Amino acid sequence: MKTLIGNWKMNLGVRESVALARGVIYAIRGKKFVPEIVICPSFTALSEVRKVIARSSVSLGAQTMSSEDKGAYTGEISARQLQELSVSHVIIGHSERRANQCETDAVVRAKTKKALESGFIPVICIGEEKEAREAGNELAVVQEQITNALKGISLGHEQTLLFAYEPLWAIGSGNPATSQQVVEMHAHIRAVAQELLEGRETQIKVLYGGSVNPENVYGFLREQEVDGILVGGASIKLSQMREVISQAMDVVESYSTK
Ligand code: PGA
Repeated sequence: MKTLIGNWKMNLGVRESVALARGVIYAIRGKKFVPEIVICPSFTALSEVRKVIARSSVSLGAQTMSSEDKGAYTGEISARQLQELSVSHVIIGHSERRANQCETDAVVRAKTKKALESGFIPVICIGEEKEAREAGNELAVVQEQITNALKGISLGHEQTLLFAYEPLWAIGSGNPATSQQVVEMHAHIRAVAQELLEGRETQIKVLYGGSVNPENVYGFLREQEVDGILVGGASIKLSQMREVISQAMDVVESYSTK
């Protein structure tokens, strides 16, 4: 099943989030070939959005989470607090947090470990900077990010781990990676992760993110190597999100008849 994650970032208030979540529900109502959809509102809207999606197939994700259980961590949100709100997915190590909140690979690893222990599906973001791609170092950079993130981590039978390949130069730039670049990197990510997670390869999914929009989403999703997409900008405008969902449904349908 293809996965579609909407990362709403720090953009919407509670009422806007509820309206957008309703729009997502309407877009899939009564449809047969629906992708797995995860929406990630701001923390302040999780509680209300949860009510909107309660009886639907749409899941709730958090944009980050603390690796600590509780205590003197001003401004942080714990796994327990997210569990109370029926959150199922947690985005970890988004490049904006790596850049703005100093989230190092060690932090990403600690959060991944905590997310898995707490029953969440981690969505680990990885991706190279423009300079690394220009120097031909993208595979090595991503390999190091994955290796550091998964050090000492093993997946249980029932656990799933998602990687979101998000090259920094493609995020919010209107300049997405090409399908060829994405397919090559996804195969690499899978190979690296397989080695580290020994025998758990079917429990890994690899998503692409970075300037995904209604025009290019079909092209990415129809690739076998692309298990799903992580959408930022296009996920906060209902008209665009509906079109992204519609394209994703077409891909799911085409796969079901293969
Ligand atoms: P974008 O963001 O779709 O606006 O490029 C993607 C992301 O940051 O996850």
